[in-house]
Order: sequence, then C-alpha cells, then structure tokens
Amino acid sequence: MFTEQETQLIFFCNGRKITDNNVDPSMTLLSYLRLKLRLTGSKLGCGEGGCGACTVMVSSYDKMTKKINHISVNACLTPICHIHMMAVTTVEGIGSLKAGLHPVQERIAKSHGSQCGFCTPGIVMSMYTLLRNNHQPTMSDIEDAFQGNLCRCTGYRPILEGFRTFTKKFETDARIVNNMCSSGTRCCRFENGINGTSDFETDTENLKNVCNSGTKCCRFENSINGISTTLFQPSDFTEYDPTTEIIFPPELILMLENEKPKILRFTGDDVTWLRPVNLCQLVDIRRQFPNSKLVLGNTEVGVDVKLKKMSYPILVSLSHITELNIIESCDGGVKIGATVTLSRIEEFLINVMKKLPDYKCKSFSALIDMLHWFGGQQIRNVASIGGNIITGSPISDLNPIFMAAGCTLEVVDTEGVRRIMPIANNFFTGYRKNAMKLSETLISITVPYTNKSEHFKAYKQAHRRDDDIAIVNAAFRVDLQDDVIKSCSMAFGGMAPTTKLAKKTMNKIIGRIWDQSLLEHVTVLLTDEMSLSPDAPGGMVEYRQSLVLSFFFKFYLTVRQHCTHHENKLFNVHPADMSATLPFKRADVRSSQMFQEISDDSSSVDPVGCPIVHSSAYQQATGEAVYVDDMVPFQNELYMAIVYSQKAHAVIKCVDATAALSMPGVHAFVDHNDVTGTNFIGELVPDDEVFATDMVTCVGQYIGGIVADSKEIAQRAARMVRVEYQELEPIISIEDAIAKESYFQPIKNLENGNMTDGFNKSDQIIEGEMKVGEQEHFYLETQCGLAVPKGGDDAMEMFFACQDLKLLQATVAAVLGMQFHKITVRAKRLGGGFGGKETRTCSLAAALAVAARRVGRPVRIMLDRDEDMSSTGTRHAFLGRYKVGFTNDGKIQALKLDMYSNCGNSTDKSTKVMEHAMFHLQNVYYIPNVEVRGHCCKTNIPSNTAFRGFGKPQSQLIAENWISDIALACGISQKKVREINMLQDGESTYFKQKVQQLDNAKRCWDECLNKSGYEMRQLKVELFNRSNRWKKRGLSIIPLLYGVGFPDTTANQGGALVMIYTDGSVLLAHGGIEMGQGLYTKMIQVASRTLGISTKKIFTNETSTNTVPNASPTAASISSDLNGMAVQIACEKLYQRLAPYRKREPNKTWDDWVKAAYCDRVSLSATGFYKSPSTAFDWKTKSGNPYYYFSFGAAVSEVEIDCLTGDHMVLRTDIVMDVGDSINPAIDIGQIEGAFIQGYGLFTLEEHRWSTTGHLLTKGPGFYKIPGFTDIPVEFNVSLLDGVPNKKAVCSSKVRYWYNFI
Ligand SMILES: Cc1cc2nc3c(=O)[nH]c(=O)nc-3n(C[C@H](O)[C@H](O)[C@H](O)COP(=O)(O)OP(=O)(O)OC[C@H]3O[C@@H](n4cnc5c(N)ncnc54)[C@H](O)[C@@H]3O)c2cc1C
Ligand code: FES
Ligand code: FES
Repeated sequence: MFTEQETQLIFFCNGRKITDNNVDPSMTLLSYLRLKLRLTGSKLGCGEGGCGACTVMVSSYDKMTKKINHISVNACLTPICHIHMMAVTTVEGIGSLKAGLHPVQERIAKSHGSQCGFCTPGIVMSMYTLLRNNHQPTMSDIEDAFQGNLCRCTGYRPILEGFRTFTKKFETDARIVNNMCSSGTRCCRFENGINGTSDFETDTENLKNVCNSGTKCCRFENSINGISTTLFQPSDFTEYDPTTEIIFPPELILMLENEKPKILRFTGDDVTWLRPVNLCQLVDIRRQFPNSKLVLGNTEVGVDVKLKKMSYPILVSLSHITELNIIESCDGGVKIGATVTLSRIEEFLINVMKKLPDYKCKSFSALIDMLHWFGGQQIRNVASIGGNIITGSPISDLNPIFMAAGCTLEVVDTEGVRRIMPIANNFFTGYRKNAMKLSETLISITVPYTNKSEHFKAYKQAHRRDDDIAIVNAAFRVDLQDDVIKSCSMAFGGMAPTTKLAKKTMNKIIGRIWDQSLLEHVTVLLTDEMSLSPDAPGGMVEYRQSLVLSFFFKFYLTVRQHCTHHENKLFNVHPADMSATLPFKRADVRSSQMFQEISDDSSSVDPVGCPIVHSSAYQQATGEAVYVDDMVPFQNELYMAIVYSQKAHAVIKCVDATAALSMPGVHAFVDHNDVTGTNFIGELVPDDEVFATDMVTCVGQYIGGIVADSKEIAQRAARMVRVEYQELEPIISIEDAIAKESYFQPIKNLENGNMTDGFNKSDQIIEGEMKVGEQEHFYLETQCGLAVPKGGDDAMEMFFACQDLKLLQATVAAVLGMQFHKITVRAKRLGGGFGGKETRTCSLAAALAVAARRVGRPVRIMLDRDEDMSSTGTRHAFLGRYKVGFTNDGKIQALKLDMYSNCGNSTDKSTKVMEHAMFHLQNVYYIPNVEVRGHCCKTNIPSNTAFRGFGKPQSQLIAENWISDIALACGISQKKVREINMLQDGESTYFKQKVQQLDNAKRCWDECLNKSGYEMRQLKVELFNRSNRWKKRGLSIIPLLYGVGFPDTTANQGGALVMIYTDGSVLLAHGGIEMGQGLYTKMIQVASRTLGISTKKIFTNETSTNTVPNASPTAASISSDLNGMAVQIACEKLYQRLAPYRKREPNKTWDDWVKAAYCDRVSLSATGFYKSPSTAFDWKTKSGNPYYYFSFGAAVSEVEIDCLTGDHMVLRTDIVMDVGDSINPAIDIGQIEGAFIQGYGLFTLEEHRWSTTGHLLTKGPGFYKIPGFTDIPVEFNVSLLDGVPNKKAVCSSKVRYWYNFI
C-alpha cells in the first residue's frame, strides 16, 4: 500500500536548497533554523504561538493555479516536515549589514522601533510578508499583520510610525507633507491641506515654512520656541521597490511541476510523520494506525506537545488531501473543507459576499467579524477550521457560530463510509470531546445561507481584543416574521465544558414578539440556564454570567432596529441605547513627539540632544544581533534543565533521579550536595537556597538540575526525577499572610506630623482599600545563560542575560566557594529586563555554575516561557488599607496607611521595594500628617523582585485611589483635588526631603492640560456621556513625582574604562547593561561629546566584570546618570592627555593626535569613577534624603468603555515629562511610551492567577496578556519639557520614568 514513499525532506531557506535524509519529525521549523541551520535571527519567545518573535515567511507554489502564496507563520509551532517543498524566508534572508538592509529593516531601525530588539526580527517578518502580498497596505492592514506580534519595550508607536511610510496614504499625503512641518499629520498645514483650506501658493516668502495659519502655524510656533517634532526623517529611507524582492526558487517550481504525488514518510526516534496525498491513502493509514494523530496547522497539537507534554508517535498530516482542502459555494450555503485555513475562509467569504445579496450572508458576516479576533495572522494562516471543530474547546470562537447557524459536518470512517452530522445536535459530548468515532475524519462543514427574515450576530469578550481566547463568546440567530419569533438559536462559549446551546430558552420563546417583555423574559431564562457554580473552572463567575446577558441585550437591540412593523412608538430603540450595539472601531493611530531642539551653536559633531538611532538597531533588525542563546555552542557544550518543586510548601521526603540518569544522553543530576560553597544566597538576606535541601517553599523552587546532551533530553529527564513530598499548608495571598501574620521583619514605619490633630481638623474621614496585582516582567528573551569552566585556572566564565553582573559574580563565587576574580561575567545585550534579570538571574546562574563545575564542561540554559513565568517572580502585588482625612473643599489633612506586599518565599529585594513604595505614597501631593506601615508578606509563591518603578507605581496607584475617594466625597473633580493638594515650591515630602525644581511639576501639569485641550474635551466627554447610555467616556489627568537614586549610598557609583587605539577608534566599557533602554547609545553620545569625536569612532562591545569591576546594578533608571558621569570623567582624562597635541597641531585630526600621543608613550586608556553626592535614609533615626533629585510628569488620558462588557479603548493620551536636557530624545520618548504601555498593562490588562495550591495558572502569552499593537492610545502624544537642565546629572539630563494610571 505504501510502496511509493518520499523520505527526503526538501525545502528552500533564504534561496538555499536544504535536503535532509534524517530529519527528526519532532522538530519545529524554529529549532531546525536555530540549531541545524544556525540561523538565529528568528527568536524563541514563547514556543506557543503567542508572541510572534519566531515569525518567518513561508511561500508555496500552487501547481493548479500557478500562483505563489506567501504567509507569515510562527516557526515555533510549524513542524519542520510541514514545509517540505516550500520556501522559507527568515529575517537573515531579506537583508544584512553587509548586503544592505531591506527597507522594512531599515525603517524599523531608523524610526526607533527597536529597543531590546528581541521582538524585532518577528515584527520585521510580519511586515515583510504583508508587503510581499500587498505593496501599499493601509494602516489597518499593518495593525492586522501585527495582531500576533508582541513587544514589551517600545509601546509600539514608533514601529507603527516607521511602517506608516509604506502606506499609500503616506505617499499621497507626501505632497502635502512636503509643505508642512515636522509635526507630521498633526501639522495644521496638513490638516488644512486635507480639508482643502490651505493655499500654499499664496504663502509669503517670509512665512515660507509656515502654512497660511501664519504665526499660528505649529511650525512657526515650534520653531520660535526651539521645539523639534522630528525623531526621524522619512526622506532618509531607501525607497521600497517590490520588483527587487527575492523570487520563489525556480528550481522548486520545476520540482513541484514534475512531482508525482507520493506518501511522505519521515521517521525519527520518537515520531513518525506521514503525509498521504488522497483520501483513500488517509483512510488506509488511519485503519493501519488507529492511534495516529491527525494534524494540520499544529496550533493545538503543537501546544499540547509543548505545554502539556503530550506525545504522539505517529502524526498524519492532512495538508495535501485535495478533498479536504476545497472551499466552494454549494446549494444551501458554503462548503468548507476541514483543512481550509482560517485566512482562506476569510478571503473566500469576503469574495462570496460581494456576489450574493446581504440577507443570505448574515452568518458569513458574523464569521468574518469573528475571524478578525481569532488568534493573530500567523495563527489564522495555518490553523484549520477542522482543527478548531475537532478540538472542541469550550471557548472556540467558531463553534458557537456553527451551532447557531445550524451547520452540518461530513465525516468519513476507516471503511470509507461517510455520514452527515448536524453540529448543533449533541455533537459536543464533553470537555474537548465530540460524537465522532475515533476512526472518523472530518471532511467538511457546510455553513447555510441565512434567509430574508433571519438575523445573525456573534460576540466575543476577551481580556485583550487582539489574539486572545474568549472569556465568553456567543452567537445568536433569530428568524422573525412580523416581529414574532419563528425559530431561534443561541450558542455560548465559556459557560460550560462545551459550547452550549441555550435550548430551554430557545424553546420557550418561540412565538413571542421581539419586544421589551421578551428581553425581560430571556434575561430570566438565560440567568437560569447559563448559571455557573461559584467554583466553576475559569473563575470570574459573575462577570461571565453578566456577559451572557449583555451579549443578548446587544443582539436584542440590534434586531429591534429592524422590527419596523409595530405601531407602538415605545417600540423604537432610543438613540442613547444604540451605543450598546456598536463595536469599538479604532481610527488610524496618530501621534506626536515634541522635544527641545539642540541649539544652533552646538558643535556639529556633538550628538548630545540628538535623536540618534539605537547603536544596535540595525543588527537587531537584520537578526545579526547576538543574544546569549544565539551564541555558537562550544564543541563539548551540555544543557541543563531544572527540576522544580511541584508543591508550594512541603517537606522533601526523597528525591530519586535514577530513571533520569539511565536515559541516553544524560550526564548528571546536580542538587544541593554539589554546592561546594554556600547554598544560601540573597543580596539583602541570604534566605534563598540555590537548591532546596529539606523543604520547598514555593512551586517553581529549584530542587536539582539534569545536565544532558540537549535541551530536549535534559527536559525529558528532568520530568523523570521523582520527588516525594510531605505537604504543608501554603500561604498564597496577602490576605492569607495577614491572617497568619506571616511577614518578613522588620515591619517598617514612618510618621510625620500629628495624626490626632490631622483627623480632628478633617471635615470628613474615609477608610478604604486598594489592591494591585502582580505583574510579570515578560521580557521577550527568557532567562538564559552559559557557564564555561576554565579548567586550567579553576575559573568560570559566565555569559548571562543579567542586569547585575556584580551580584551574579558574587553569588556564583559564594556558591562555588571561589574568589570573585576567578569568576568573569559578560553580558552583551539583554532581550529586555525591567528588573526581572537582577537577583532572580543570579539564582539561575548559581545553579548553572554548580552544574558546569560538576561536569567540567560548558553548560547552557534558556528557560521556556512557562518555566520562566512560574519560577522567576514578578512585580509585587500590593494591598493598601488607608484612612484619609480631608476638609470639605478637598484639602488633605491626614493619611494613615498600611501597605502590604506579597514578597513570595524569600526576602530578595522586597524590603527595598517596600521602602520605595513608602517614599512615594504621597505622589506629588502635600500631606501634613502621615503614618505609614509597610508589611512585607512572606508567602509560598516564587520570590517577587524588582520591576520597573520598584514599588512606586503600586503606592502611587493607592494614592490616586484615595484622591478619587476624596473627590467623590466632596463632590468636586479629581483634577481639582489634585491641583489644590500639589506640593508648593519649598515644601518637603512627608519624610522631610525638600523637592527641588517643583516648578517643573507645575509646568508639566499646565502644559499637559494645555496641550491636551483638557477643558474643551471635558465638555465633549460630558456631551458624549449624556447622549450614550451604554458607552461612556472619561478624561483624567494624573501628575507624577519620581525620586531618583538608590537610597543606599554605596550603590550610587558608576565606573568606566575608555580605550583609544592607535587608529583613533575608541572602545568604551562601563558598568551599565544594555537591555533595550539605549544606555550604550547614550554613553557613546556622552563620550562623543567629551572627546569631540564622531559617534562612529566609538564602540561598546559588552559589559563585563573584567573591564569594569564592582558595577552597581543597571536599575532604578539611574544607570545613565552614574555610568554617564564615569564615562565623562574617563573621557575628560583622555581629552586632557591629548590636549598638547591638539594645541600643537590644531589643524590635524583626532587620528593624528592619537598617533602622536602613542608615539610619545602617552597612556591611551583611562578609567572613570563617579559617586553621586551621598543619598541615604537612616531607618533608625528616620532621617536623611533617600533621593538625589526628583523627576516630574503629567498625563491626560481619555478612555471609552462599554458598560455592558467592560471592554474599553484608550482614545488619546498626552504626556509631558521633565527629563532635564535629554541626551537622546528618541530614546527618552521611547522609554516613556514603552513604560506607559507597560503601566497600562499593569493597571488594566495583565493578571496573574494562582491556584489555591500555589500553582501559577497564567504561565504563557496564551493566558497572561500584555498589551498588543492595538491597545495603544489611538492618539499618543509625548512632549519633553523644554529648558529644564538638571545640574545634578550628566549633560544636564534627568532620569525619565513613566507609569501612568488612566
Ligand atoms: C496563539 C494561539 C491563538 C489561538 N487563538 C484562538 C482563538 O482566538 N480562538 C479559537 O477558537 N482558537 C484559538 N486557538 C486555537 C487553535 O488555533 C484552533 O483551534 C485551530 O483552529 C486549530 O487548527 P489546527 O489546524 O492548527 O489544528 P491541529 O492542531 O492541527 O489539530 C487540532 C485537533 O484537531 C484534530 N483534527 C484536525 N483536523 C481533523 C480532521 N479533519 N478530522 C479529525 N480530526 C482532525 C487533530 O487531530 C487535533 O486533535 C489559538 C491557538 C494558538 C496557538
Ligand atoms: S516563539 Fe513563536 S510565537 Fe512566541
Ligand atoms: S524591542 Fe520589542 S521586546 Fe524589546
């Protein structure tokens, strides 16, 4: 039967033919690219299709139509065997530093759309694929293309702005743009041009650059004020010429044309891949291998294998069975083959709808709408309709539609017998189970046309709109005759173990009129039929139940509008109710960025103040930037997988690694017995064990590690290590800890003023509570490192993605019992850090070092996303319990606050985080009497750690909450309460630190009000709210104060080493880590200014303990201050040493002076060391200044919410921030935008959920949602306050920090 088989894998990658006779079918395309082809541009961010970092383009040739099809796919989910006879294009294939960047790569780099760069190759490839299919996309095409891509750094705005230049609109606008200022589409000239009111010809000569708004033109005003609005120049971009794109390999076309369809069979050690080419072969295979697993897109099967560790020894690919791949119109509707991908369905239905009357296509229209919210583009390009139906997920987005529409399925068994099954009729029999027999295969589904009297709608509510699974979804169909219900169906997802029809409700309303009383009746019926038990899986029980009713209400109103026969006027839908029926529709993103222009007298080579591009942006965009896991493996390198605790609190009774050690390829099991130094680590308190000894105190704690030949073997063996526990009761939440008084000591407190007086003077006193949940760092690059023992010297070299090399070095030395100088730590770049790669990385490094020492070979580790999320800790959850006293006009008199943070199972940095939270409880407000206590709760979750803002966002949110309570109680606006309580010049914080430059806080506030048009928009919001019952808008302004500096004096130091070579080039090293925040770029700018040479002459290779010792962590946003000063000092020394040569031969060049100095035996290297003036707070005496200076800001945001579902959209945000004299406005604005979006995620979207046994339930992008491209404000404006030099920091700059609460 299977005599004719193909066993050689053939595909093309970046134009190169790859043939493989021994392919391992368990490999994904991503691992094949990275490990076998050493193409490491495509990144592993999650391995489950949720981040897009692995995106590549796959092209195929259709022999019948002779068409070439390009799709973006997630290489992490694409089985390597799937791409047989296809062409793969990776980020390396479209451009490189050597061959020249592709315009997509160039534009993302030049528009500052790449910070840490880990997401960049995936984003580049999504954009590239879009352009291959559509040379002139719209902005909405671009946003759609990025539904499956995440970035944690940029805030997305610069990426969208860079790629806007590919749109047709951008080109057609160019004529107008040529005549407008650099505010881009916000220029009044542009707006006038668009509105046809501008008459450029009549501009007078002296207003040449100004539109006919004359002196009111933004260009005029900006130029007068020295404000620039241009972060990049589109005119610098290489033109995009689609005709120069690489072609589909002609050899492959020839091969495909001559190909005789054969069964494909690839046999590996664990998996065999079979690909039949017709239905007969499939039926035979299924008969022969009844337990084989069918697969098409692999978006379910692949996730099962990766996350649920399922194994499928025989995989049968359905991709080449023509009958399953047909989509066509038929008598009663549209018949869709089971393997047709969702993208093809969308395309087909859009075309069908153009040809058919609207009434026939109502279910198609609902399907198309729903498909838009289904996964990301990469998923839709490969996921099949059959895969979705057969998986039978209770939150499938399609099954409610298929059930409500009355679709039928055609299936075939292993005897070739076919049958038709209606999907609505008990097809789903249980959680992910259906009525098909194991031996049956789905052939197709038929979606019927709707008739003239039918109405159809579908709804979905998810945490995030793009690429998220539903919390609840629903589809409704009703057939009305004269407003009377003839038939109807209602199907709900997320309300039961299967998609569920509301049968009772459906039956009871037949014959009823579609009126208000029906609505009331259905509400009662659905409440009963769709009720959930309080402990229903998925939680959010009340919310889910209310969504059921909200969806029906929306459907009811939508249909009501068509009930035109009834005479009664009350029957009409009130216009204010109509907002319930309208989905959110995003306009194209608009933005502006304003910053101070550098003055004309500044030297031409001085780059300080210029928005120069991130120094690694080009490498990041081409995939050439090397991250730790991209490093070429050492020849004898091994891999370690961690054995994690599976219990939150337990005594370890026994650990047995025998079975694991007997696996081929396994070299060792390491645990606490292998630790030659101390097993107890921790920066503040050594209460963290490298490997647990007798007891585990959280799920995810390290018990041991398996060292093996490869990641796969190590991970499989780690799962075979048997651990026996004796369980103890865990403490998971803050409330549990309070009840059990489980705290890390001491409980800190601060007081100021007289509380009794304060409350006595208060007209009102409110007590309240505010909770802030944990936030996952979600750096795109998970924790990773490589430990290389240096045998002869008994030393160790550690390559680690770490923000604190000094701590890592000290930790590894202590654990190995070695001196620091034997441990060299090197970090070139990090794929994001945000605080998560400080202390927790040191624990991982310690474990890895123990393993490497034990086996005496290099050992590598890169955590999978689920491992990273469930073991490395997060931002601390906080609970604030407050009592605030105030006068009737809103003036604060006294605040008593108890703050509790969930620290997890060890101290880590928690006590410091709490201190910062306590120092920021007042934000920018004056509070005369304060009493605060900070409780660090000891719980049985992984130790929580540093995260951007370090406790400040949590306590500032608590502050803004009691501000809003005061406003409500006094009946005045929040804005007014904020204004009247703001610190005045000369006033101090409650811990008695004088706040200098307070003027800047007021300026930020006023400029923000002004620039955002706050007052006028407030009126518009009120008008909107009066006219809309179910959608409401809110406008808010929030100020911000941020203390800069480590409150511990010692850490406030920076170091640098600057080396000049005899060709004049400069190698710059300093103690700061580059993790996307642009530190290397800024330091190069500082060096460039100080030495008076071009930035092109200066290079930073990496940060390491053997160039700059004892460096403070790159944290607290202060690294550019500390290291920048050190760089400046080192460069000044060198500049002075070259002074005699400059003076002697002023007309010569830098290179000449360097050479001359060298010949005179002048040292051309210098160190720089800087310590900021002492900042310290003494907790014994409760005195001292914890901060060196303060940064300020203000932001206005306008948000619209759907009151029925809780869905929301940020319509506009304006931020004004004081960053002193910005060293690099592009970097500073990028950081502000990125932090704002991260803060938006913290406060609106991101949610960690724990089981009662201490297991993290949200351990991947599938369940934990960070903001995506379409979550950013539709209009996003950022301005840097101008003319505010900060004398206290390098180049008069200031730390920028933004975390706004909307
Ligand atoms: C990042 C991501 C986002 C997602 N977003 C969504 C979303 O928004 N909404 C949603 O509903 N789902 C979502 N999913 C789930 C998934 O994409 C869909 O269920 C998809 O349609 C499955 O199709 P597939 O071809 O990839 O199935 P596969 O993984 O190839 O197969 C799935 C199952 O179907 C079986 N099967 C496939 N074809 C047949 C057939 N013809 N006959 C019998 N059995 C068959 C397979 O054996 C397997 O058990 C998402 C998944 C991921 C990874
Ligand atoms: S790594 Fe593939 S989508 Fe995240
Ligand atoms: S630049 Fe996108 S994740 Fe860092």
